[in-house]
Amino acid sequence: MVQWVPAFLRERVKTILSVGQRRRGALRERIGRLQFEFLVGRGLRPEHYLLDVGCGNLRGGVHFIRYLDPGHYYGIDKNPERLDQGRREVKRLGLADKHPRLVQIEDFNFQALNHTFDYALAQSLFTHLPLNSILRCLVMIEPVLRPGGEFYATFFETPTANPTWPRSHIPAWMGRSS
Ligand SMILES: C[S@@+](CC[C@H](N)C(=O)[O-])C[C@H]1O[C@@H](n2cnc3c(N)ncnc32)[C@H](O)[C@@H]1O
Repeated sequence: MVQWVPAFLRERVKTILSVGQRRRGALRERIGRLQFEFLVGRGLRPEHYLLDVGCGNLRGGVHFIRYLDPGHYYGIDKNPERLDQGRREVKRLGLADKHPRLVQIEDFNFQALNHTFDYALAQSLFTHLPLNSILRCLVMIEPVLRPGGEFYATFFETPTANPTWPRSHIPAWMGRSS
């Protein structure tokens, strides 16, 4: 990208790009930690099992993986490349011995994991999905939550039917009583 920029502007462009990268890195770290601190505040403990729906390249996942007992983090995503980025991140951060389970699932068929969960999270997923997919996810998550298990998701709240209305990004939760 920097190739076709006139020489006198190249250094300036490089500086701007690297500032942008640093900002994105800082934001990634902040949102990643936010999700982690939110669930810990809600009672997540190392011995719990967590399902991270639409885990992407593990922005929050790396924090959960570090905290949870080995094999207790399950991340699913429809995008295999994002999962591969996540796997590289796990290696880079020396978390391989935590044995996170990263599985490609596109249709919310969580039962394919053959596991049940104390907590489930969909961070920045519903904000990108049509209503039908959100409903499908909610229906499919219920059978894999343990008694008392909790599912949290972030979504955009629009006070009117106008989708261009300024939006706030708020967390919500669904619990499963015992
Ligand atoms: C904005 S990213 C958020 C990733 C992660 N939760 C985070 O906080 O960084 C949304 C992720 O949802 C995934 N996704 C979208 N639709 C999906 C679906 N139907 N099933 C599973 N993952 C999906 C995308 O591939 C993407 O990685």
